Amino acid sequence: MSLLTVSTVSELREFVQHAKFKGLSVGFVPTMGNLHAGHMSLIKQAKKHCDLVVASIFVNPLQFNDKSDLTNYPRTLEQDQALLTENSCNLLFAPTVDEMYPNGQESQTIVSVPDVSMGLCGGSRPGHFDGVATVVTKLLNMAQADKAFFGEKDFQQLAVIRKMVADLCIPVDIVGVSTERNSDGLALSSRNGYLSTEELALAPALYKALQEVATAVQQGNDFVTTLEQTQQRLNKQGFKVDYLSLCRVSDLKPATADDDQLVVLIAAFLGSARLIDNLPFPLNRTSD
Ligand code: PAJ
Repeated sequence: MSLLTVSTVSELREFVQHAKFKGLSVGFVPTMGNLHAGHMSLIKQAKKHCDLVVASIFVNPLQFNDKSDLTNYPRTLEQDQALLTENSCNLLFAPTVDEMYPNGQESQTIVSVPDVSMGLCGGSRPGHFDGVATVVTKLLNMAQADKAFFGEKDFQQLAVIRKMVADLCIPVDIVGVSTERNSDGLALSSRNGYLSTEELALAPALYKALQEVATAVQQGNDFVTTLEQTQQRLNKQGFKVDYLSLCRVSDLKPATADDDQLVVLIAAFLGSARLIDNLPFPLNRTSD
């Protein structure tokens, strides 16, 4: 079956309601386009869990706190449609800004998720997670799918969405999908396209650093010293580290020695590109 592309909420709703009427389950994969194998791993998971798969492409102005970042964000609709077709996606919802925000962005009701939106990327990008939470609430309500798929690549975003869906009783199952990487460890991202050849060669050092932090912490090394040393080393290598933090998975609060599910998260500039990555890992405490 070929990919159908629609741009209005009523067409999207009609497709999903028709599918549900026929007793078919629907999986939803929201994106901002410029699709790559990372996005396709969400489509593949959705295919595995659901009868039909709907993707959306919408470069959401509300979540960009930097205007030039919004202007320069790569828009590659035809290439994206080809990739979605190849991966047997059934419907693409690609709305305009007016379709998403018919009353204007200024008077849009904002969804703000407390606690988990604070710090990390929320600290460096004020208003970003309000923009994400608002657009994802709208998209989930527009699509009314059974399950929605989000990448662990954006670990804090996934935590924000999980909390928002629980707090607002949105009737959808949120499924987290593990990060798709190049063979050198670099997490796939639309922003990798901003890297020069030299920067691309250096970029995998980010994931290596996360692995080293996880190993050092599991071996019982002090959290603060490990993070400080790693951050200094990355800065010397040519990154500009925005944050390198060790948190507990449950609520992204700073990790303590009593937590057993941890995640190390990083955001770092490499040239003009701001890269993010993370690595969840268990901390097996030995009883004394
Ligand atoms: P975007 O950056 O296009 O990402 C869309 C989805 O793909 C997100 O759930 C993201 O976590 C996932 N993803 C990106 N790279 C991945 C990788 N290497 N491995 C696995 N999953 C990956 O995230 C957004 O768009 C937007 O904020 C959105 C949720 C669509 C709201 O506007």
